[in-house]
Amino acid sequence: MRELVAEHHVRVNDLVAPLFVREGIDEPRPIASLPGVVQHTSTSLRAEVAALAELGVRAVILFGVPASKDATGSGAYDPAGIVQVALRDLRDDLGDDVVVMADLCVDEYTDHGHCGIVAADGTVDNDATLEIYARAALAQAEAGAQVVAPSGMMDGQVAVIREALDSAGFADVAVMAYAAKFASALYGPFRDAVDVSIAGGGDRKGYQQDFRNAREAQFEIELDVAEGADIVMVKPALAYLDVIAEASARVDVPLAAYHVSGEYAMIHAAAERGWIDGDAVALEHLTAIKRAGADIVLTYFARWFAESVANGRIAS
Ligand code: PBG
Repeated sequence: MRELVAEHHVRVNDLVAPLFVREGIDEPRPIASLPGVVQHTSTSLRAEVAALAELGVRAVILFGVPASKDATGSGAYDPAGIVQVALRDLRDDLGDDVVVMADLCVDEYTDHGHCGIVAADGTVDNDATLEIYARAALAQAEAGAQVVAPSGMMDGQVAVIREALDSAGFADVAVMAYAAKFASALYGPFRDAVDVSIAGGGDRKGYQQDFRNAREAQFEIELDVAEGADIVMVKPALAYLDVIAEASARVDVPLAAYHVSGEYAMIHAAAERGWIDGDAVALEHLTAIKRAGADIVLTYFARWFAESVANGRIAS
């Protein structure tokens, strides 16, 4: 009876698996603060995406860790950059069976760790950064990305990327905008995963949102829809369920939520101590994100969830 009347469900088809690929390594490297998540080699990434597809996880988002970093993050738009290589490999292997998304930002590629070009006064130059984002979008689309996902929170980024894609013949490449992305302390383990530390102990409060502001989040989402976003995202997820719920009532494009690295790490850390049942909490959290109104959930639990469905531990 409970199954019959249950209102909300997580489906494997709702999930996007975030994956890290690192240039110049021979073996996958574990990420201490993200148990079960690794920095992949180009080869192990291909095997992981094939295994995910087999389990029914049909969407992945790629993050690159380059061998060397520089001031403009050139690895993000170099056709031979690590993510562009991975995109080509995955499209060769899987064609259209899997939606391959590319995170579009430069923080993994810059030596200062910011999401943009840093001006002489130490602030991030919004408009100079937009030019770099347009180049990265084209490099990703040329390499086969079906979705580009700008995560840098520069003003006007969606419009510039959409225009660059359209004028180069990539009208079919979708833009998933990190639209309401908060300056959150929950990204800590991710920065370990991509070897990023922000120069001078800086932060991203100049471009990411203040977590005290909810109306501003809806404004950011509306701007991205107006600029041509095909999917909009709220990030992180659990501390922002109110923002997700409000956005799902307001917008007509698909809504994504990112259950981020810190959210995943907290569940693992408490479960390891025997303080919570990690699997039960993970399912509760993913369901809450869906219940709030997200259509799509980016989560490091994607593989675990699909395996749990496959072996009957989770009903779906
Ligand atoms: C920026 C980016 C970040 C995350 C996704 N894209 C880090 C940041 O903004 O500092 C965080 C994801 C997570 O914590 O799981 N390229």
